[in-house]
Amino acid sequence: MQPQVVDTTPFEGQRPGTSGLRKKVGVFRQPHYLENFVQAIFDTQTDLAGGELVVGGDGRYYNREAIQTILRMAAANGVRRALVGRGGILSTPAASCVIRKRRTQGGIVLSASHNPGGPEGDFGIKFNIAAGGPAPESVTEAIFARTQSIRQYRTLEGTPTNLDEIGRTRVGDMEVEIIDPVSDYAQLMESLFDFNAIHQLFNSGLFRMRFDAMHAVTGPYAVEILESRLKAPPGTVMNAEALEDFGGGHPDPNLAHAKALVALTKGPDALDFGAASDGDGDRNMILGKDCFVTPSDSLAVLAANAHLVPGYASGIRGIARSMPTSQAADRVAEQLGVECFETPTGWKFFGNLLDAGRITLCGEESFGTGSDHVREKDGLWAVLFWLNLLAVRQQSVAEILSDHWRRFGRNFYTRHDYEAVDAAAAEGLMHHLRILLPDLPGRRLGEQIVRYADDFAYTDPIDGSRSERQGIRIGFENGARIVFRLSGTGTEGATLRVYLESFEPDPAHHHRDTQEAMRPLILVARELAQIEARTGRLEPDVIT
Ligand code: G1P
Ligand code: ZN
Repeated sequence: MQPQVVDTTPFEGQRPGTSGLRKKVGVFRQPHYLENFVQAIFDTQTDLAGGELVVGGDGRYYNREAIQTILRMAAANGVRRALVGRGGILSTPAASCVIRKRRTQGGIVLSASHNPGGPEGDFGIKFNIAAGGPAPESVTEAIFARTQSIRQYRTLEGTPTNLDEIGRTRVGDMEVEIIDPVSDYAQLMESLFDFNAIHQLFNSGLFRMRFDAMHAVTGPYAVEILESRLKAPPGTVMNAEALEDFGGGHPDPNLAHAKALVALTKGPDALDFGAASDGDGDRNMILGKDCFVTPSDSLAVLAANAHLVPGYASGIRGIARSMPTSQAADRVAEQLGVECFETPTGWKFFGNLLDAGRITLCGEESFGTGSDHVREKDGLWAVLFWLNLLAVRQQSVAEILSDHWRRFGRNFYTRHDYEAVDAAAAEGLMHHLRILLPDLPGRRLGEQIVRYADDFAYTDPIDGSRSERQGIRIGFENGARIVFRLSGTGTEGATLRVYLESFEPDPAHHHRDTQEAMRPLILVARELAQIEARTGRLEPDVIT
């Protein structure tokens, strides 16, 4: 294979968003587009020359092609060894697990997470650092800066690598090891959870569940762990076959996109437990019989019960949640006497806290939960955590949840998304809110008085780095909150997210319908932000 230096010119807009660079497949397929970004990684992450790199993705359309390009470029840039999941597959948490376990200098993870795939769908790429987590902003900004001045990239000519056979091969001078994408990860799960207890639960014949892999990357992981190792009945994993276009679906585990699974948890023949994960396996949704656990509540429940699970039996150090996530976890942290951190949206902000040993558990309202076992959120991990709790507590999901609310009070929570809104209109709306902020404290909005109103900024307690403009927060005297943010992962127009939370201490009101209970706050948010006038939207596109 001959090393080649190829002349190129910069592309606009290669700044990584909340979670890497995400664009339509067609954008990535432009000549030099992917190459420029990959070269910017090698130019800025100089440890990779002479080092080891993990490469894998969620298996979506263009995954294999991108991996071939990356392997050639890695070899031409002096990477000593690349570890690649068989078939180009690594779920995002498994990639993090492999980077950490094999102590590599980092990894390139190919995914657009829960965004639809296929030739017309989305693709994405991100760099994970040696600790296993998404690169922090200092790194993503350096990569972006490099994409703006790039003039050349390095690659090799040659035949494509066979990605489907476990074993060692070479690309130029670089060794390539094709690894089983599941085994390191499955072993880690066995070390954290009581597989025996979960097996007993399945074996009892009294417990029925489904895991919806949504035709995405967790299929092979869930079949191996749930069906092969834990002996759940065959067919427990539905939509298990990983497809390049996710079967045309939208692989986002929420009430709107996992409707078939949700239906199985309702009615006289309802399952005891339902769970789902997203395109790249880092998100999770937890359902019980006639019961949906909000991700914010899930984080709080896991924290309050962590001592029941072998991997966390000695207690947790602290908890972190993203700013828009409900404050349910804060109440648990307070009672446990551990620290609680409020970080900007995006998993990368948890990395420093996890590395420094300040937190054990962390989560986001966007169906993300995780711990210090890897540096990504982890869908199957959350499912196994819940299964372990169900096995130990011998209660239903709904009982565990009601108990939790009785003990800590209930943080009602919902998120309203307005998708593909005109970008200028969305910016205008946020600008309008920013102007209102200084006058809000002390004002009555609907039934409640505003206690604080700000544009969230965060100073990382470990490295002191500062992140500004992370979303508008409006907090009320009674603990309710409204948060407005624009999505950083979308690829079309803008997505306005409105996050709503209210606190209910009285168990007599804990079982109200969420949308109904939160109606007054929802109306306050709509009016304050002038959503209808500015976006033309009467109702949100997705409610979770
Ligand atoms: C969304 C979620 C965020 C999550 C990210 C990656 O980002 O809101 O919590 O970390 O996806 O999964 P957003 O589109 O809101 O920027
Ligand atoms: Zn994801």
